[in-house]
Amino acid sequence: MDKKHKIGLFGFGCVGQGLYDILEKTDFKAEIAKICVKNRQKKRSLPAECFTYDASDILEDETINLVVELIDNADEAYEIVTTALRNGKNVVTANKKMLAEHLAELLELQKTYGASLLYEGAVCGSIPIIRTLEEYYDNELLFSVSGIFNGSSNYILTKVIQENLSYETALKQAQDLGFAETDPTLDVGGFDPLYKLCIVALHAYGVVVKPTEIFNYGIQGLSPYDIQFALEKGYKLKLLASVQRISEDEVSLSVMPHFVSRGHYLYHVENEYNAAIVEAAFSSKQVFTGKGAGGHPTGSAVLSDISANRYGYKYEYRKAYAQDSTITKPFRVSQQQVQEVYLRYHDEADFELFDFIGISEKYQGTNFNYVIGTVRLKDLCQLKETLLERDIFIASTGKVVETVEKVKEEVEVLA
Ligand code: HSE
Repeated sequence: MDKKHKIGLFGFGCVGQGLYDILEKTDFKAEIAKICVKNRQKKRSLPAECFTYDASDILEDETINLVVELIDNADEAYEIVTTALRNGKNVVTANKKMLAEHLAELLELQKTYGASLLYEGAVCGSIPIIRTLEEYYDNELLFSVSGIFNGSSNYILTKVIQENLSYETALKQAQDLGFAETDPTLDVGGFDPLYKLCIVALHAYGVVVKPTEIFNYGIQGLSPYDIQFALEKGYKLKLLASVQRISEDEVSLSVMPHFVSRGHYLYHVENEYNAAIVEAAFSSKQVFTGKGAGGHPTGSAVLSDISANRYGYKYEYRKAYAQDSTITKPFRVSQQQVQEVYLRYHDEADFELFDFIGISEKYQGTNFNYVIGTVRLKDLCQLKETLLERDIFIASTGKVVETVEKVKEEVEVLA
């Protein structure tokens, strides 16, 4: 079972160094043959002979059987990972953007070339959610997988709401601590959790969905008024990603801020901590929490993949290949979901953008206006750019009504 590992490592940034550090401090025996980096000028903590600047020194080296890809640039990561798989090398990566944008092709390459691709470190840092969904929730009837999938935005929300720090200071701290992406818009715009959600959806429901097909809204538009609203109601704000089953064969996905009250499982998940709530028919609700960003937590998930690779572990994607099996049936993505949201807006023209199914509260003040009402996910998706341009803030109230029909029924009963 146990085979000799010779690793080619790409990237020696926050996670690469975190991994190296962990390998130094544990008994795990792995030979890192070469580390490929880009920046020749950067001062390194290891001797120069450990490094190469030429990717082919790893990709074309037949003695290297495992490529560990931990670089920042998703396009370059795509070239490295696909070349390695084509060359028959197993790969461990933590690059969520690259994975989410190329899921279909990466599945195909694994099938064609028989090499394995593992990526526990790409989703929720140290929380072992991918293998849990893949193995443990193999046959369970999953209702939903949701949670805090981005450490930086959770860090910012914690500091801004509970500690009264300015948004800019909190973001700077998240960057200095190595949590944020090089382009922090990926974090605060809700893109990073969106990429992670696409990966989660594949392992939870077997769906391959493109990030551009999903509604994601971040926290850049958060204003003191929204914070005031949250504090007055006793809520905290969390940027939540969610995939939920809404019918026999449909799932609904979204990323957006949510107000959570004291009794919510995620109310106390703070700073760079992530959390994943898995809800299923028989096991009921399970909550996984842990550090979602940083060199050591992510490095530990990468180490676990390296170790799993040693005994030949591969994702089987049984849910994605469900048509070939009797286990589950394939799901498709629907945007028919209806959700109750808080919308903070500037003027009536903003308000009229929305085709509300129902409104439960409307406030018009001298400084800001808000409405709480039910809207369709597909309408939010179509309006996304307009919402950003007009600086409209959206947060889910957490009240989810499963289908348009169901909301209509409710509205009729109330009328
Ligand atoms: N920027 C990411 C985050 C890093 O803040 O969660 C971990 O994926």
